[in-house]
Amino acid sequence: MTDRYAVIGNPVAHSVSPRIHEAFARQTGQDMTYGRILAPLDRFERCVREFADGGGRGLNVTLPFKLEAWRLATRLSARAEAARAVNTLRFDGDGIYGDNTDGAGLVRDIEANHGFTIAGRRVLVMGAGGAARGVLLPLIERGPAALAIANRTPEKAVEIARPFAARMAIAAGDYSGLAGREFDLVINATSASLAGAVPDLPAGTFAAGALAYDMMYARELTAFLAWARDRGVARLADGYGMLVEQAAESFVLWRGVRPSTRELIAELRAQ
Ligand code: ATR
Repeated sequence: MTDRYAVIGNPVAHSVSPRIHEAFARQTGQDMTYGRILAPLDRFERCVREFADGGGRGLNVTLPFKLEAWRLATRLSARAEAARAVNTLRFDGDGIYGDNTDGAGLVRDIEANHGFTIAGRRVLVMGAGGAARGVLLPLIERGPAALAIANRTPEKAVEIARPFAARMAIAAGDYSGLAGREFDLVINATSASLAGAVPDLPAGTFAAGALAYDMMYARELTAFLAWARDRGVARLADGYGMLVEQAAESFVLWRGVRPSTRELIAELRAQ
């Protein structure tokens, strides 16, 4: 019997996950289908249970249900626990396993696709919403020399850093607090690019040879990447790689096979 998967969200029509997973399935010869489920805002749990009861094997969860999925899971990966958000569910027969592949996808894109080693480097994460919190544990696990979190509302940066205090010292605060500090990797986890805005980074934030990474993607360079380029940053990375790599991590969790991603990333970016 063909195994069934889907992405669940509201809205969900724009999701490129079906396209990505169908490509992975073809490439690896997996017998599976991947659809879309538009869940009414007050019926996420019911839709999940119906899908699982009908033989569905797994779901990707997108906005606005990642926290509800985190609550619904009966077992969580450490990275999902830390993220307080779930983007991947797997129905194992004895419960609902919840994982979060966003951070692993980000790290893999940075290291494998962009050839940038995180270990020993100075890393800045901008933003303190769900997108930022979702990637902190996988970033810390790569062993950066220093990690800072900056946010327009500094209290939120302090709050998302707190659970990791025992693992490493994280500098958390507002953007002006970064003055005089340099970073090798600057990750934009804010939604500012959606509005064409750029966080208030002080001049001199980028070290020589730094990589500027925007978790957002767009047809043109995002506002942050254009801003970094205008300040002489040569290494720029948009969110297409993370989009495909987080899907690949979900695929591995479900199917136990790692698809290759390079061509698909290039294809999506080219369109
Ligand atoms: P997500 O779940 O995608 O992270 P979110 O929880 O709404 O979304 O968080 C959005 C993040 O982008 C926040 O860190 C927000 O800063 P505040 O906490 O100060 O609101 C940040 N953000 C949005 N627009 C921004 C802008 N124009 N400049 C700087 N930061 C911005």
